[in-house]
Amino acid sequence: MKRIAVLVSGGGTNLQALIDAIKNNYITEGYIEIVFSNKKDAYGLERAIKSGIKTMFLDPKEFKSREEYDEYLSGKMNSFNIDLICLAGYMRILTEKFLDKFKGKIMNIHPALLPSFGGPGMYGLNVHKAVIESGVKITGCTVHFVNKGVDTGPIIIQKCVAVDDNDTPETLQKKILEYEHKAYPEAVKLFTENRLKIVDKRVRII
Ligand code: GAR
Repeated sequence: MKRIAVLVSGGGTNLQALIDAIKNNYITEGYIEIVFSNKKDAYGLERAIKSGIKTMFLDPKEFKSREEYDEYLSGKMNSFNIDLICLAGYMRILTEKFLDKFKGKIMNIHPALLPSFGGPGMYGLNVHKAVIESGVKITGCTVHFVNKGVDTGPIIIQKCVAVDDNDTPETLQKKILEYEHKAYPEAVKLFTENRLKIVDKRVRII
């Protein structure tokens, strides 16, 4: 059984999708050991508590630097023997040292088809605004492994969503979230069943 940690900063609907996928026995080879947040009032923490999952709020103000914060977080990951770290709306860039320690074990979900519409500043509604302004007809979501770049890691799963002429950033966000809630459990299921193999930049599903 793989032990999963989920890192959230906000609403946690993707966390909920993972919780539900485990409850409904879609994911059978892993479970959520703990949910961390850098925001005290993140609703994701409530969702975890409601499902009987351990939570931890780590206050950035109590640490001198991002390095110290991530060092502490990585100690916690080790003490809980975490096999997979899922970023689910975690709005903090992880330090290089942390990324090195958990190489190939950190996943993120992004609300666009990477490598388009990713990178620094591309989060939440900013992404959907940029998508609409660009005039593209198709967008979607991407689950990927996290590497040292922002939104540049090996891609595990993508789902497409059409951009309609009358879409607003808000309607797009809503449409895409529905697909995120399918894509993230799929990626986590594959990981927990040891079916993902990273070969250079490609993730093979075996
Ligand atoms: C999701 O749409 C996720 O793709 C996005 O934040 C939202 C979190 O929602 N992540 C990013 O923009 C990362 N660059 P949730 O808290 O309801 O899961």
